[in-house]
Amino acid sequence: MARINDNYLKLKAGYLFPEIARRVKEFSDAHPEAQIIRLGIGDVTQPLVPAVIEAFHAGVDDLAKAETFHGYGPEQGYNWLSQLIAEKAYAPLGVELKPSEIFISDGSKCDSANILDILDLGNKVAICDPVYPVYHDTNVMIGRSGEADAKGYYEGIVYMPCTAENDFTPAFPEEKVDIIYLCYPNNPTGTVATKEQLKAWVDYAIARNAIIFFDAAYEAFITEPGIPHSIYEIDGAKQCAIEFRSFSKTAGFTGVRCGLTVIPHELTATSATGEKVALNKLWNRRQSTKFNGVSYPVQRAAAAVYSEQGWLQVKEVINFYLENAKIIKQGLEAAGIDCYGGVNAPYIWLKTPENMGSWEFFDKLLKECHVVGTPGSGFGPSGEGYFRLSAFGGRENVKKAVKRIVEKWGKK
Ligand code: MLT
Repeated sequence: MARINDNYLKLKAGYLFPEIARRVKEFSDAHPEAQIIRLGIGDVTQPLVPAVIEAFHAGVDDLAKAETFHGYGPEQGYNWLSQLIAEKAYAPLGVELKPSEIFISDGSKCDSANILDILDLGNKVAICDPVYPVYHDTNVMIGRSGEADAKGYYEGIVYMPCTAENDFTPAFPEEKVDIIYLCYPNNPTGTVATKEQLKAWVDYAIARNAIIFFDAAYEAFITEPGIPHSIYEIDGAKQCAIEFRSFSKTAGFTGVRCGLTVIPHELTATSATGEKVALNKLWNRRQSTKFNGVSYPVQRAAAAVYSEQGWLQVKEVINFYLENAKIIKQGLEAAGIDCYGGVNAPYIWLKTPENMGSWEFFDKLLKECHVVGTPGSGFGPSGEGYFRLSAFGGRENVKKAVKRIVEKWGKK
């Protein structure tokens, strides 16, 4: 009889967002008249911008003619897209990257999970709590942890709590760790890290030969000057960090699928015999074997994000979501609800009213206000008593959701 990967049995609950979708479906099946507003999963609602659509169509048209047809593309992505990303997304930050350091993929969720393939199971991993559940669950799935304790912490994983008490700033792990996951602007708390804070992490990682997995999926939402958009803005980061980026939230590609992972050539880790091996080389090997690249029209569409028109249009949509975030944050704060994030990120992290548990608030909000959000405890034990609202909704829905919450729980 074939054996399963028993690590999957250690996972305590279903993946967060399908679990939310299940509860919402159950409610809406029972109450078909309820007009449910969905501010749960960070899924975009605005259409792709015209420049992207045009390039996408042109890419499809190319496939219709023998002279411009494209079959298998490079597993690493087309060089013209990597080159463009290096020039338009990184060079303006003062970061010099070679196209061969940029790997195009079908999204940073997959990459941040798949990257575990090239690193030994013996590595000790540190993650923030609360955290984007993918970092956590994929380490359990691959076998890096023991069982979960009563709180929900898995044996063998180092957790770095981030709450209002420590200003959502993780403390350095006391024990030796080899891999540190950081996400800024942060999902789920919507908070950011300053240059000084990131510099401290880079120094920490270099001193301990650790690697930082830096998830910058939300960098395009940074509004405040001086906040780093890339970890490579910090001296030394190329020696110790892998960066993940995504077109999902930046350009509305959640359904289109395109992301990228940067692995600088100078980033190394050691083999069992102590030899230093370039991670770029290993990831290249991994992708060449297990991945066939992103489709040509999608890469054409992604390239259009960096055209002059494309970027202006994309920025307009980002500003629309940021305005939603402002409406949510200001509306709830004015009603006496404590909110965090929402300035440099499309997420508002709030303290649940009346000290309710996160899932209790989720259920009440759904049943009494017909609004869906994400329970903070779904992102980890330290998220208990918090709740996340996404700013990716339509404007009218966002305003209605705020009104319904304020009418029910506003203190002022
Ligand atoms: C979220 O809501 O946290 C994100 O949409 C999930 C994702 O990007 O996979």
